[in-house]
Amino acid sequence: MMSKKILLTGDRPTGKLHLGHYAGSLKKRLEIYEQYESYIMVADVQALTDNFNNPQKVRDNVFEVVADNLAIGIDPNKATFFIQSEIPQIAELTVFFSNLVTISELKRNPTVKTEIKEKERIFGHEGEHLTFGFLGYPVSQAADITFINAEVVPVGEDQKPMLELTRQIVRKFNNLYGQTFKEPKEVLDNISRLQGLDGKKMSKSLNNAIYLSDSREEIEKKIRKAVTDSENKVYFDPEKKPGVSNLMTYYQIVSGKSYNEIEDEFKDIKYYIEFKEKLIDKLDHFLKPFRERRREFENNPEKVWKVLREGKEKVLKKAEENMKIIRKNMKIDYFL
Ligand code: TRP
Repeated sequence: MMSKKILLTGDRPTGKLHLGHYAGSLKKRLEIYEQYESYIMVADVQALTDNFNNPQKVRDNVFEVVADNLAIGIDPNKATFFIQSEIPQIAELTVFFSNLVTISELKRNPTVKTEIKEKERIFGHEGEHLTFGFLGYPVSQAADITFINAEVVPVGEDQKPMLELTRQIVRKFNNLYGQTFKEPKEVLDNISRLQGLDGKKMSKSLNNAIYLSDSREEIEKKIRKAVTDSENKVYFDPEKKPGVSNLMTYYQIVSGKSYNEIEDEFKDIKYYIEFKEKLIDKLDHFLKPFRERRREFENNPEKVWKVLREGKEKVLKKAEENMKIIRKNMKIDYFL
């Protein structure tokens, strides 16, 4: 019998998950995770690289991101959830990998570059307060993926550079120390980056997101005040009509309709509010089952912690086994 390939993916616990996460990675995750031996990691160590001054926020959001994953319908009996910091072998492997990456490779990483700019409050205007930990988090992410020999990694478009670096590290490691790791591949969804209600990238930090756990009232408030234009015509033109086009993308995600079908549906409207009201209904309808499933975990948080505790036990065993092989190949297996 062929054993299943291993899938691993992760979420940073820095806030609740939103529609951008859904369109960019969760939808794909949900579609494919049952075909593999799947692991979903709560990346608390990675979250701390830019939230080291706010550990309570990271702590609180561990529960939230797992609840969100369970709410969208990931079955904890078919995927293993665990917390990154509970697996010391990941930190250990990060140290070993750090010899195989140059500082200039890390400085060239486009995703990290953008993040450093966005986080100038912590890292300084010119990156003069950039930490070793933040610059190096892609190395740690390579360890997240390889410590368990994952081959399939469903992620958003912005994570492509991390997977490229991981493959590069794997090749270098295998060349130097003998065949040890498999080369992982990203699995992307087609909607790469969803904009928030203000036209900027949808993001927890920019406060412009529709959360998977939003109530109907919250959705109403947000959509009603979403920026449009004065034309009162629904058609897709992200250059000329960024606001309306973005709302059409939300509509597309929650209704499954194409842009053409959406244009056709609203060709006779007089005011955008008619489109917005319909969008509110569709969003509400779409998120309702998530909210209902989430409520069960909000009322019984110990269910979430049980999933995480059991996941930890299972993953630790695998990590210990794999670390024996890694240490042997690196000739640091002194007392094994
Ligand atoms: N960097 C990912 C994000 O910001 C989270 C993450 C951490 C991850 N480790 C991972 C994703 C390993 C896939 C595999 O969304």
